[in-house]
Amino acid sequence: MVNEIDIPKISQSHLFGIKNLEIDDIKKILDLANFFKSKNKEKNKNYPLLKGRTIINLFFEPSTRTLISFEIAAKRLGADVINVNIERSSLRKGESLHDTAQTLGAMNPDLVVVRHGTNDASKQIAQIVKCPVINAGEGINEHPTQALLDAYTIINHNKKLEDLIVAICGDLEHSRVARSNYYLLDKMKSKVRFVYPEYFKPKDLHKYNVETFNNLKDGIANADIVMMLRIQNERISELNLPSTQDYFNQFGLTYEKLKSAKSDALVLHPGPINRNVEIEDRLADDIDKSVINEQVENGVAVRMSCLSIMVQ
Ligand code: CP
Repeated sequence: MVNEIDIPKISQSHLFGIKNLEIDDIKKILDLANFFKSKNKEKNKNYPLLKGRTIINLFFEPSTRTLISFEIAAKRLGADVINVNIERSSLRKGESLHDTAQTLGAMNPDLVVVRHGTNDASKQIAQIVKCPVINAGEGINEHPTQALLDAYTIINHNKKLEDLIVAICGDLEHSRVARSNYYLLDKMKSKVRFVYPEYFKPKDLHKYNVETFNNLKDGIANADIVMMLRIQNERISELNLPSTQDYFNQFGLTYEKLKSAKSDALVLHPGPINRNVEIEDRLADDIDKSVINEQVENGVAVRMSCLSIMVQ
């Protein structure tokens, strides 16, 4: 195969988060995603840059979008892909995360993609496997490829990442998507707002250069981007949350509340959506306002870009 493109190098050998990426790294990943986005529209979507390479997807938490798009991305690049089935692995016989990583590392993968419930799982695994590791969402820390695909989706709507007003709304406390998006948009000099009910106030709020709001309509006023978050029920145990109807009334995005944002504001949601809880059913599917399906489509191109860059 004659390469039609040069694969750039970035400053990091792992993709643990957006926080440690340089602006130039982000631009290189998004630029390369453009190439794969157009390849993905062709009948033959394969571009076997990673032929002969082995990629392991190690997901300890459920996933539809991220797992499948990493798998599709790796296969379109010609890699051999192994999705570890946690339920049928020796983790269920009590093997530790360390020993599992050591075992997988001994099989010489070229890259490991990790989703885990703890905040530094990808770094722990990277110390053991001796190949690049991509964080596919860990704890409430970061979900870098989600922020990259969100940024890519915004750019594809002719919006520059600089100088936007971006309202990130809902369960801020438990959202790794919010944190990665914050780091990316703040680096790009956009204005980020955190909009949340008091019970979802992030405990680490002091770390972020954001305006905060406790009212959705005020929080999205004049926003270019309205980014709704999923309520992370699996991470919530002690809180007395309102009923889903009360939450929707106060914090669910509706056509009515969206009038407060710019008329061409884009509505994003990382999925999976709780319809009529975080966002009005019809609005989620309204392609004149919502780019949720485009986020999923772009996820494949962005992950092809990340894999090509990390496996060199
Ligand atoms: N956005 C996201 O991470 O979705 P999944 O949990 O389905 O991968």
